[in-house]
Amino acid sequence: MNKKIIITIICILAIIIGIACYFIFMGKNNKTNINTENNKNITDNNKTNNSKIGIMYFSATGNTEKIAKYIKEETNGDLIEIIPKEKYTSEDLAYNNDCRANREQQDENARPEIENSIDIIKYDTIFLGYPIWWGDVPKIILTFIDNNNLDGKVVIPFCTSGSTGILQSENTLKTYNKNMNLQSGRRFSSSANKEEISSWIKDLEI
Ligand SMILES: Cc1cc2nc3c(=O)[nH]c(=O)nc-3n(C[C@H](O)[C@H](O)[C@H](O)COP(=O)(O)O)c2cc1C
Repeated sequence: MNKKIIITIICILAIIIGIACYFIFMGKNNKTNINTENNKNITDNNKTNNSKIGIMYFSATGNTEKIAKYIKEETNGDLIEIIPKEKYTSEDLAYNNDCRANREQQDENARPEIENSIDIIKYDTIFLGYPIWWGDVPKIILTFIDNNNLDGKVVIPFCTSGSTGILQSENTLKTYNKNMNLQSGRRFSSSANKEEISSWIKDLEI
């Protein structure tokens, strides 16, 4: 083979390798861009979802409020307190006596008024929090359901109690409005820490 042919072959090989390297490099670059774009979309979607989460709670002595705040930190949803028009004093809550809270729980028509107007329209998912009173939801939670159209909303109950579970209160909610998309909720003790709430939220498909 003469020198000219050898040089021509080397040049052709160099061009082929050059073109191959170009395509391999471009392919990798595109993949990176697609991944970055996907990640961006996931983040954006999360932001959008989070803006549609509302954490609505009633808390007479602060235990349920603490959990509600942890849920807010985990979900970045909006935190909205259900404030009674007539605040509950410690006498009202002294359940060993004939107190206001006991009387309300025994009266099936009791619907304590809510002071603040709550706009739930923009929320798809509502965390609904309350203390357990005599095994059940405080009657103000029924007022909240009366006042707001929860039909089709994903409602995730959560509660705090001395020891009673959430089941009876969930059954009350289920019966009271059959059209909301009620999920099974979670009872927390007053000493629950942020990690408990965090792992619960991670298990929820929201
Ligand atoms: C009127 C009343 C009834 C209660 N009934 C129960 C009950 O049936 N079971 C229970 O474990 N705790 C019961 N508790 C305790 C509360 O559920 C508990 O202290 C709760 O964490 C209070 O939440 P809060 O601080 O958000 O109001 C009752 C408390 C009150 C005031």
